[in-house]
Amino acid sequence: MKGTDILLMVLGGGVVAAIGAATYVALAPGSQVQPANSDPRAGARLYAENCASCHGDQLQGEPDWQIENEDGTLPAPPHDTTGHTWHHGDGLLFTYTKLGGQAALAARGVSGFKSGMPGFGDTLSDQEIWDILAFIKSTWPDRVRATQQIRTESEQQQGS
Ligand code: HEC
Repeated sequence: MKGTDILLMVLGGGVVAAIGAATYVALAPGSQVQPANSDPRAGARLYAENCASCHGDQLQGEPDWQIENEDGTLPAPPHDTTGHTWHHGDGLLFTYTKLGGQAALAARGVSGFKSGMPGFGDTLSDQEIWDILAFIKSTWPDRVRATQQIRTESEQQQGS
């Protein structure tokens, strides 16, 4: 299976089926939900400083973001509604940003995926990461935000 397939499966929530329940390692269930005091305006500034270089200053992602690079990594996907950020609950978005792609997937039992997404746990506080995610969400229409909220709720129920 190619890295892309594994990632899409994991990000699609099919990780248990993909790798078998035995190797599934859940993150702390329900611990990661957007705090109410997140500040999207601070998040916009932090996004420009830390994320825009890869994910685009208009959240548009890199060109041809679905096509694997020669080194086996994927280009950075958009965070606007054309991407798949809104398909994921808060917990996944937060861990992916804090730990980076490789570690976030390893925590979900997936190894061998070469991620181009660095971890920001050493450079950004949890609050700053939530501010950035609040900014990203603030650019989505209500319908998309509501869908992502449902995803967060089901993520909590599954403990992932
Ligand atoms: C060096 C380039 C780079 C930077 C800087 C970067 N990312 Fe990423 N990001 C990626 C790549 C590449 C992916 C695609 C998945 C992978 O390779 O793991 C990704 C994937 C993601 C994902 C999961 C996919 C999705 O959209 O659902 C999230 C969430 C994310 N990045 C958030 C951020 C945030 C927030 C920042 C800034 C704090 C940031 N990224 C900075 C390269 C980057």
